[in-house]
Amino acid sequence: MNAPETRDRNADWWKSAVVYQIYPRSFADSDGDGLGDLRGSIGRLDHLAALGVDVIWLSPIYRSPQDDNGYDISDYEDVDPLFGTLADLEELIAGVHERGMRIVMDLVVNHTSDEHPWFVESRSSRDNPKRDWYWWRPPRAGHEPGALGAEPTNWGSFFSGTVWEWDEATGEYFLHLFSRKQPDLNWENPAVRQAVYAMMLRWLDRGVDGFRMDVINLISKQVDADGSLPDGVVHGGGSLGDGTPFCMNGPRIHEFLQEMNREVLAGRNLITVAETPGASIADAVRYTDAARGEVNMVFQFEHMGLDQVPGGSKWDLAPLRLTDLKRNLTAWQEGLAEAGWNSLYWDNHDQPRVVSRFGDDGAHRVPSAKALATVLHLLRGTPYVYQGEEFGMTNAHFTSLAQYQDIESLNWAREAAERGVPEEMILRSLAAKSRDNARTPVQWDVSANAGFTTGTPWLSVNPNHTEVNAAAAVADPDSVFHHYRRLIELRHTLPVVVHGDYRPLLPADEQVFAYVRSLGDERLLVIANLSGEPATVDLGDDAALLGGEVVLAAGPGAAGAAGDGVVTLAPWESRVVLTR
Ligand code: NOJ
Repeated sequence: MNAPETRDRNADWWKSAVVYQIYPRSFADSDGDGLGDLRGSIGRLDHLAALGVDVIWLSPIYRSPQDDNGYDISDYEDVDPLFGTLADLEELIAGVHERGMRIVMDLVVNHTSDEHPWFVESRSSRDNPKRDWYWWRPPRAGHEPGALGAEPTNWGSFFSGTVWEWDEATGEYFLHLFSRKQPDLNWENPAVRQAVYAMMLRWLDRGVDGFRMDVINLISKQVDADGSLPDGVVHGGGSLGDGTPFCMNGPRIHEFLQEMNREVLAGRNLITVAETPGASIADAVRYTDAARGEVNMVFQFEHMGLDQVPGGSKWDLAPLRLTDLKRNLTAWQEGLAEAGWNSLYWDNHDQPRVVSRFGDDGAHRVPSAKALATVLHLLRGTPYVYQGEEFGMTNAHFTSLAQYQDIESLNWAREAAERGVPEEMILRSLAAKSRDNARTPVQWDVSANAGFTTGTPWLSVNPNHTEVNAAAAVADPDSVFHHYRRLIELRHTLPVVVHGDYRPLLPADEQVFAYVRSLGDERLLVIANLSGEPATVDLGDDAALLGGEVVLAAGPGAAGAAGDGVVTLAPWESRVVLTR
């Protein structure tokens, strides 16, 4: 199952690649159990090849109790029967390779499932050899073991409540930054690291082409000399503190990633992307500077935090200001211009759908999806497309709590209700930000359940599938799908898209996102009205760029530049112009 010769052998091939994420549970169901599976994914590979993507990132399909939809792994080396068999996975890998694409596996090694044999052993007794593979700590001195306040630190979990779970049998707590069924591995222990590397090498032997590393910048925790972990600052009310200063981008993170690179990744022509919440531009340079030998690129979250109240959580909704978005994306473009590399994304399985979030999923769904895709895909970096994004799938628009399934959403909703937050506010935040927005089944066609399953889907299908579906989009040359296809083609055919410099235009404009990419004598002007009103802007000295060859446009396109450099764009109109 080796890579076919047709694929680019250049070590930096991932710089001109576009990645497509499959979240298998919601992608395509082949056996009618209502849950997507590997054979379903195999059946849709031609759709991905037609879109023109280079790499498939497969969210976890490993054995798992599914407490966090597979991000809680109980066997790294086998496929969960919900998704199929190892033979199915091998067929998927072969099918991807046959079509000239590559495949990236999700690597979830900050934590395992509490049902992983390593943890089962670890919790079996205090002197088990695997005890130290996880973070076990005694109760806080002077507190009744297991009682409120006796937790070793005050850290709050990403999934609500404390990060510590009391284990009555052995009289200690274990750490879980996510759910209590996701205990954190102790990367301080070299045997843990070696076990992870050996597992990664086995996946590479099976022919996979890289890894997406789940919350990998949480693996190094700050431990005090006496072995304790520090308390965090308590923001706002409540008793839980912020543990992130002690577990994000921790003291040994670069040492661990460099070791992983030396032992597993180096010299194999792979693609690696590290998910790094809380990473700054300076952190990202350290992770992705090729000279340091860590990873190719990171998923950072700054632009995903711009539509929330500053200092609040993602559930504290605030409107997005386009100037903030442009300033942020520009800072990342400029910050990684000399060393390192950006990943470019709007959507994934943890984020709401961009057309509903930053676009207009009503009357302007198609042009707004195209405009958002345009401004993202023509930046410098590696773009990621999340299943369904390529034809403009929208948020779920659920109206009752009973419709949600996601553990993060449900835990937060319960906690918010306990704090007295009115249900309508809870529902408003969930409708805007719940991860289930991205997880509704892919809408393949107009048939019942959108062609996703013949059974009962695990999460309801969006009723708008009669209008928003892959089949309709593929059949319509003016669709969002063909717009994405052309954007991908531009990356593959124009070196300026991959390698060109980036210069922002109109930074203070609240409607228009515009920039110029330059390589040698080539200039690529990207201009889009990201608002539902017409926008008139003055391009000044750059107006001449409007006179080049329009290589992609969406919207009426009637408005041109007046002689004085002033241009008017229709609502959500976008244009890409090449000058050589
Ligand atoms: C990030 C993943 O993308 C998310 O889905 C998951 O819940 C957490 N990491 C924990 O693994």
